[in-house]
Amino acid sequence: MRIAILSRNPKLHSIRRLRYEAGQLNMECQVIDPLACQLVIRGKESKIVLKNRALPDFDAILPRIGASITDYGLCVVRHFEMRKIPTMNGSRAIAESRDKMRSLQVLTEAGLLVPATVLTRNTQSLKTAVEAVQGLPAVLKILRGTQGVGVMLVHSPVSLGSVLDTLRTLDQDVIIQQFIVEGAGRDYRAFVVGERVVAAMMRTAPQGEFRSNIHRGGSAQVIQLSKKFEQTAVRAAKTLGLQIAGVDLMESRDGPLIIEVNSSPGFEGIEKATGINVARSIVQHMKTTIQKTRKPRKT
Ligand SMILES: Nc1ncnc2c1ncn2[C@@H]1O[C@H](COP(=O)(O)OP(=O)(O)O)[C@@H](O)[C@H]1O
Ligand SMILES: [Mg+2]
Repeated sequence: MRIAILSRNPKLHSIRRLRYEAGQLNMECQVIDPLACQLVIRGKESKIVLKNRALPDFDAILPRIGASITDYGLCVVRHFEMRKIPTMNGSRAIAESRDKMRSLQVLTEAGLLVPATVLTRNTQSLKTAVEAVQGLPAVLKILRGTQGVGVMLVHSPVSLGSVLDTLRTLDQDVIIQQFIVEGAGRDYRAFVVGERVVAAMMRTAPQGEFRSNIHRGGSAQVIQLSKKFEQTAVRAAKTLGLQIAGVDLMESRDGPLIIEVNSSPGFEGIEKATGINVARSIVQHMKTTIQKTRKPRKT
């Protein structure tokens, strides 16, 4: 069995862990830099060329596409899909989950609960937008931010207008979102593999901060997620078509709210906090999927 991980950096903790666990399961694992891939379409043929050689057909691909290379990275994933190679996750699912507005549209359409959110380019009449998100303070998010960067809290109409104007000049579209007061400073990360939450943690923001991302100094604590939170996380991943997902949830008066769904979730923090072998779950899931999709041998 031969798999490939699409990643820019083979030295990353997650990549090293995945390679190690693949080896433990007797799977060959190659790390491929998506930006080094040439994508060829010629007549009916499509191929992926790396260092002047066409790549062999792997049994499955694991894209770990960072936000900075989303467009090119997704194009590479799409090319593997053209060659009918199972990809975990697929290009469409990655694209939809990476866009904070698009993912909330898809989740809402499926009947899942997300914070009230407004996308607007018009900064003249913000009154209705502010009302829609239950007033100020409200959270602003750039559409493609990660690790808490590009997530802000605004307290006054003046700062809301000026931040929106500034971000517009930087060519950034922004969503305005209801600030979840009752759960502020704390969120839950559920790591979904296949249709199961394999690990979960609670993240608490440092003093004076509302973002609980580990990269923003948040601290992790092991918890047993309630059935309701687990089901919501699994449904969110499934709705977006993700087999591997990091689902961020917050507690609200109306029950679990989905904050976002990550398609390339890191797992150093969650493995450390929980002692659970997340990398093994991912690789095992790939193995099972490959076995299921393989054509039965002719006898
Ligand atoms: N609507 C909200 N109300 C309160 N806190 C929020 C809200 N949205 C996000 N947060 C906090 O900010 C953090 C980062 O937001 P998130 O949407 O997950 O962006 P990122 O992709 O940068 O992680 C969340 O983990 C949560 O702690
Ligand atoms: Mg997040």
